[in-house]
Amino acid sequence: MGLYLTEEEKEMLEGKHGKSTQKAMEIITTLGNIYGAKRLISVSSVQIAGVSYHNLGEAGLEYLSEMAEDGKVRVLTTLNPAGMDLEEWKKHGISEEFAENQQRVIDVFSKMGVITTCTCTPYYIGNLPHFGEHIAWAESSAVCFANSVVGAMTNREGGPSALATALTGKTAEYGFHLEENRVAQVKYEIKVELKNTDDFGLLGHVIGERTRKSIPYITGIDKVTTEELKSFCASIATYGGVALFHMEGITPNITPVPDKVEIVTQEDLDNARKSLDDEGAEIDFISVGCPHASIKEIALVAELLDGKQVSDGKTVWITTARPTKDMAKKMGYYDIIEKAGAFLVSDACCAVAPLKGRFKRLLTDSAKACFYARGKNDFKTTIRTIEECIKEAVT
Ligand code: F3S
Repeated sequence: MGLYLTEEEKEMLEGKHGKSTQKAMEIITTLGNIYGAKRLISVSSVQIAGVSYHNLGEAGLEYLSEMAEDGKVRVLTTLNPAGMDLEEWKKHGISEEFAENQQRVIDVFSKMGVITTCTCTPYYIGNLPHFGEHIAWAESSAVCFANSVVGAMTNREGGPSALATALTGKTAEYGFHLEENRVAQVKYEIKVELKNTDDFGLLGHVIGERTRKSIPYITGIDKVTTEELKSFCASIATYGGVALFHMEGITPNITPVPDKVEIVTQEDLDNARKSLDDEGAEIDFISVGCPHASIKEIALVAELLDGKQVSDGKTVWITTARPTKDMAKKMGYYDIIEKAGAFLVSDACCAVAPLKGRFKRLLTDSAKACFYARGKNDFKTTIRTIEECIKEAVT
């Protein structure tokens, strides 16, 4: 049986709702046919990745501009980080030329009705689905958070497929939109005490590399913060492509417990840390906020930086969403951080900003940031707690 389309969906495909909607429906039905979907379903929110001009280039911008000619989003749609802070880019060393091009990208999304949030933590700032809700998100850490921590249902969309869903409100029903594909496959018993966001990033590294496409069922963790979960989600998605996990007593999805068991020990975590700790260059870049920092993390950074000064030769970026930055301004955290010589950067992050060649070694609490610092920017890396990162910044 092929892909069933409603009358409205057929009309979209025939171009009766405009050229962009037609192109968008072609993408969705093609994906539906490839993955053997029986029908399309409505989604309530979309999160689009591929926003930095650094990654998109002129070709990507041209595609978006074509879609924006008559395309308008039909559901709540937010954006992943861009390549710069949209307001304070100049003081972060971003060139005029890049800023101009990045703004063109933002303007095109805005024209389509996208809320230009530019964050990988949409769930912190108003794009928060509920349990069982079908959505179409693209950012891998947010997808993993939505599926696992919230219990919403999404595949990991690419930039064009997420936009296509935003323009039609529809996605093909396959993958993680179906309950039968969300069952745990391997049990991971955690025999190690996890204390901070960096530990959870390392755990994501260990399980991600081991489990790959198998859905993990994790036991042995009694207590966890949303900051630790966002770090874990980012890491397990980066190192294993994992878009869904179950954590006993923590996450809301119900699943049978798998028979296959793997053990995670302190030695596994130590090895993961060693694999992310490079030698051979001075730390000159410190970044916290991958995924984007919560207001709680910003408050902690402000407390640690209060009355101190970032050392010469070091640059500190705390990256977050713009509404969180605004909140930090109201609370006085922004002033403390900036007075110390660090930057509270919104809308962007250390992986998608054009930073190649500017630094040699990154210190961060994020295992995901280490991956991109190495792969995209050729930086050496070191992973530590937020407290240790800030201590190093002012030493
Ligand atoms: Fe977010 Fe950038 Fe990290 S998009 S998850 S802060 S690499």
